[in-house]
Amino acid sequence: MKLTRISILAALAISLASCGNKGDKADMDSYIDNLMSQMTLEEKIGQLNLPPAGDIVTGAPQDSPIGDMASKGQIGGTFNIKGAEKIKALQELAVEKSRMHIPLIVGMDVIHGYETVFPIPLALASSWDMEAIEKSASIAANEATAGGINWTFSPMVDIARDPRWGRVAEGAGEDPYLGSQIAQAMVKGYQGDFSDENVLACIKHFALYGGAEAGRDYNTVDMSRQRMYNEYLPPYKAAVDAGAATLMTSFNIIDGVPATANEWLLQDLLRDQWGFDNLVVTDYASINEMANHGMGNTLENSVRALKAGTDMDMSSNAFVSVLSEALDKGLISEADIDKACRRVLEAKYRLGLFENPYRFNNVEREKTDVYTDEHRAAAREIAAKTFVLLKNDNNTLPIKPQGTIAVIGPLGNTSNNMVGTWSVANPGDKAKTLYEGIKEAAGDKANVVYAKGSNLYADPFVEDAAANGYGGGMRDSRSEDELLAEALRVARGADVILAAVGESVGMSGEGSSRSNLDLPDTQLRLLKALVATSKPVVMLNFAGRPTTMEWEAANIPAIMNVWHGGTEAADAIADVVFGKVSPSGKLTMSIPQNVGQIPVYYNHLNTGRPVPEGTPHFHPFSSNYLDVRNEPRYPFGYGMTYTTFDYSDFALDNNKLSKDGKITASVKVTNKGNVAADEIVQFYTRDMAASLARPVKELKHFDRISLAPGESKVVEFEITPDKLGFYNANGEYLIEPGEFKVMAGPNSRDVQTLDFTLE
Ligand code: NOJ
Repeated sequence: MKLTRISILAALAISLASCGNKGDKADMDSYIDNLMSQMTLEEKIGQLNLPPAGDIVTGAPQDSPIGDMASKGQIGGTFNIKGAEKIKALQELAVEKSRMHIPLIVGMDVIHGYETVFPIPLALASSWDMEAIEKSASIAANEATAGGINWTFSPMVDIARDPRWGRVAEGAGEDPYLGSQIAQAMVKGYQGDFSDENVLACIKHFALYGGAEAGRDYNTVDMSRQRMYNEYLPPYKAAVDAGAATLMTSFNIIDGVPATANEWLLQDLLRDQWGFDNLVVTDYASINEMANHGMGNTLENSVRALKAGTDMDMSSNAFVSVLSEALDKGLISEADIDKACRRVLEAKYRLGLFENPYRFNNVEREKTDVYTDEHRAAAREIAAKTFVLLKNDNNTLPIKPQGTIAVIGPLGNTSNNMVGTWSVANPGDKAKTLYEGIKEAAGDKANVVYAKGSNLYADPFVEDAAANGYGGGMRDSRSEDELLAEALRVARGADVILAAVGESVGMSGEGSSRSNLDLPDTQLRLLKALVATSKPVVMLNFAGRPTTMEWEAANIPAIMNVWHGGTEAADAIADVVFGKVSPSGKLTMSIPQNVGQIPVYYNHLNTGRPVPEGTPHFHPFSSNYLDVRNEPRYPFGYGMTYTTFDYSDFALDNNKLSKDGKITASVKVTNKGNVAADEIVQFYTRDMAASLARPVKELKHFDRISLAPGESKVVEFEITPDKLGFYNANGEYLIEPGEFKVMAGPNSRDVQTLDFTLE
C-alpha cells in the first residue's frame, strides 16, 4: 500500500483524539506500534541516525547532506542548526517527502541560553538560586523553540573536582547534593509542561565524564563503585527522577568499556535500577571513537552500543551504515533495532510532533521572542547573583561613579568573551563590553577610560589556541611593552582601576584543559604593574574555572570572580561594582592554592592520618604536603558581600533522632552592616560511625535569604534519617544508626557544629 502523509496523519489524529498530545503510555504505545508496523528496516534504522547539520561545528566537521537524507527517511533528526525558516524547510522535507512522513527531532547545545545568554553553568551554580536557574532554562527553551529547536543537550551534570578540566565551566561544580538540585531545576525549566515553548532536556554526559584523569579532556576514568554511587552519580539520577526525556552517553570509559557500549551502565544501572526508559543518544562520534580505544571496527562497535542500550547515534554515521549487515549476520535482532527506534519515536511523540509536525516551526516567534528586553533583564538580574566576591580589603568595592575609572585588561573591551563557552546560538557580537557597561552606568558622573594592557598570553601560539575561534582576532598588533606602557599612562590618570583579566571563553569548555591555572604570564605582569601605581585595583576575574591566583590573593585589595556572565554581563557587573546590587554568589568548586593540590574538594574523606587540628605547618606522617597546606585558597561555599552576616543561636531541637522521626537544626543569621544583601546559609552533616569511610562534611541543605540592614532570619534544616544514608559498593542505600555532626555556616569552612545520635 502506498502511504501518504494524509493517511498517516489521519491515523494519528484518530489515535491522538482520545489522548491529546501527551496522552498516556497506552495511547503512545499503540500509536507507535501502528507506525512501526508500517516502517521498513531501513526506515527504522534511519530514525537512529543523528548527523550534525553543519551550521555550528562542535566536533570534527562533517559533510552531511541532511536535506537529502531527511527526504529519504535516513535521519531521525539533526542538531546544531540555526534559523527558524531553515529548520522549517528541513522539517517539510521530512514530513512531506519521506515515505513515512515522520518529523525530525532538532537538537542544539543550548547550554546557558540561546541568543539571550546567561552566565556559564558553573557561574549559574554559584547563585545557589534554584528559581533563577530554572528560569534561565525556561527562557532558553522559549527562545530555542522560537528558533525551531525542540531538544537541548543540557543539563550537563558531571561532578568535577579537577579545575584543569575545561568542562568544569559547563557543570555545577564539586558537590553531588547541590548538583542534584540544579539538575532538577534545569530539567524542569527546559521541559516545563512539554508545551511548544519547551524543549526536551538531555542529561549528560553519562557517566563520570568529570572524573577524567589529570583533567585532560576525554581522558580515562577509573573509579570505585562506592565513589560513583555516593559522589558522581547522584545528579544524573536526580535528573532521571525529574523526568528528563533523553540522556547522552559520555566519551570516557568506565571499567574499561566506553560508556556508549557499557552494558552495566546503560542497562543494569540506568534502565534496570533507575527505571529510565527514555531515549539514549551517544555523544559526538563516540561509536567511531571506540576504534581509537582499541575496540575494533564500526560493525563490532555499533553492535556493542546498540546491545548495551544506546538508541541514537550522534555523528558517527555508524548505525545507519552497518546495522542491517549486523542483522543479516545475526549479531543483533530486529527487536534490538525496534527497541531503539521506539524510543526515538517516543521522544517525538512527547514533543507533540505527530500531532503537529510543525509545532516548533512558528517562524514568526523568532522575530518576537528571541533576545527580548524581558529575557535580557532576567539575564542581567541572574548574572549579578553569580559573581563571587573573594576579597575586599578596606571596602574597595563598591566604587562610586566619580572621578576617573580605568577599565584595563584584555577582557575589558571584548564582546564575544562576555558570553561564555556554550553560546553557539548567539552571533557573538551582541554583548556589551565591560568598558561599555561601566561607561554607561557611570553616565556623566565619571570619566571612564580604557586600555587593553596586554594580550591574553605573550606567546602568540598559546593566545591563538586560547582564543579558539570564539575570542578570535583578539591579538593586538602592538607589542606587549607598548600595551603595558599605554595601560600605565591610563592608570596613572585614574582614581580606581578595574582590571579585566583572566580567561577568554576559549580557555575553558570542551577540549580546553589547562595544566597551569595561574593568570597567564603577560596578564600577571600587567596586574603587577597596575598595583605598583598604588592606585586601588579591583581584579575582575573572567574565568571558566577555579584559577589559582597566588600573587593576586596576596597583593590585590579586591577580587571578584565574574566568570563569563552572558550577554548582559557588562550591565550586571556594573550593577555590582557600583553597589546597586550586593554580590551574593558562593563558590561551588574549591579554588586551589596551586595545581599540585588538585583534586581539592571540601567533601573529602578524612584518611586514617588527618593533619591534627591546629598544626601550623607540615606535620610528619600525616596526610599533607611539605610545601603547601591542605586547605584550598577559597573553600566551597565561600563568597563575600558588602555587609557582614552574623551566625548565632545554632541549635538542635533534639539531639536524638529516632528511625522514623525528624529533628530540626536552626541558626539565626543577622545582617550587621548598612546595606541589604542575600546570604546563602549552608548546612552540612558528618557521619561519625558508619560501616564505610565517610566524608568530613556533606552539604545537606541550603537557603538563600535576603536581609535588610539589621534584619535577622532563622533558617531551619529538617533532619530525617533518609538524608543521612550512603551507598555501599553494590549500590544499596544504607542508613546506619550512630553519632552524627551537623554544621551550619556561610561556607564549608567557617561552620559551627552540634552533635546528635541517630537511633
Ligand atoms: C560534544 C560534547 O561533548 C557534547 O556535550 C555536545 O552536546 C555534543 N558535542 C554536540 O555538540
